[in-house]
Amino acid sequence: MERLVSNWYNHRALPESYICPPETRPGKLSIPSGDTIPVVNLGEALINRSNTILNVLRASQEFGFFQVVNHGVSEKVLNDTMNVVEEFFKMPMEEKASLYSEDPNKVCRLYTSNINYGTEKYHFWRDILKHHCHPLDDCIKLWPQKPTRYRDVIRTFSVEGKKLGLTILELLTEGIGLESGYFKKDLSEAMLLVANHYPPCPDPSLTLGLPKHCDPNLITILLQGHTFGLQVFKDGQWIGVQPLPNALVVNIGHQLRIVSNNKLKSAEHRAVTNSKVARTTVGLFISSSEDSIIEPAKSLTNAAQPPLYRAFRYKEFLSYYFSMMGDTELALQPFKLPFNQSVIS
Ligand code: OGA
Ligand code: NI
Repeated sequence: MERLVSNWYNHRALPESYICPPETRPGKLSIPSGDTIPVVNLGEALINRSNTILNVLRASQEFGFFQVVNHGVSEKVLNDTMNVVEEFFKMPMEEKASLYSEDPNKVCRLYTSNINYGTEKYHFWRDILKHHCHPLDDCIKLWPQKPTRYRDVIRTFSVEGKKLGLTILELLTEGIGLESGYFKKDLSEAMLLVANHYPPCPDPSLTLGLPKHCDPNLITILLQGHTFGLQVFKDGQWIGVQPLPNALVVNIGHQLRIVSNNKLKSAEHRAVTNSKVARTTVGLFISSSEDSIIEPAKSLTNAAQPPLYRAFRYKEFLSYYFSMMGDTELALQPFKLPFNQSVIS
């Protein structure tokens, strides 16, 4: 519990154990403008569906990242969600102590830094609340009891966020030429909520909130609030994702890259910190259940476009992914089919 950044950061210099190696340090970044990450107006789908599909598809192929507006999740739900999660992190430590755990298998837990504080070479400037959202009626009983509105507010956000995720997946399904409803059942059955909290940091140039990574799941919906901090790695450069009022950030995860046989891109991203204000983000990670078989969709492969990955259980991938955190291509390596090197390049 003492390890939580929010527990000790006040007025202290950055501890050495939080300093990243020079090659991964953000350095003195001028805040990049985010206008290159596409913004898709999902409301347009009602009038011109084919154009919306094209926009979502292009963004997913080129960036693996986009923001959505007019997405159907109300401003009230977004504000309630951000407020209740911010309140959670602001509560006194005693109120949160029972949730703190360093056991990655605990289904609802508060922890800090990254996957394993005890074994990582250096730490990250982040506290995390993580819990399952499926099956909702079972896991809601394990969610935080305080703030008292937490369960109600997050139930609504998770249900609406999931619906939005499925809507976007359906647009992508049509866009890449898969049969309608392809992702509706097993492949999108599970969902995790991850709330990230990045307190103000004494030296944002030397540390990261979250290292470079791709999400392992199918698709992620992120409420990033008003504060800049998310960056996407594209063509050798970090691009900022501009906070926009009432927008949600969407990114493609490895699972979707694999099922789409590389038609969609899982983009590398990271979170930087700032010295002025705390930043809180709330992500919904939609995935298959851990026992599901993941493989390139049969209808997308043929002799000319052979499958680039073998079939595997999602849990097999997850355990390898977490052991390789930080190295995107290495994490995928054992799942790639041997002959595909020449095909990919
Ligand atoms: C994540 C993530 C970005 C952010 O939790 O996987 O990429 O800005 N978060 O918090
Ligand atoms: Ni991520």
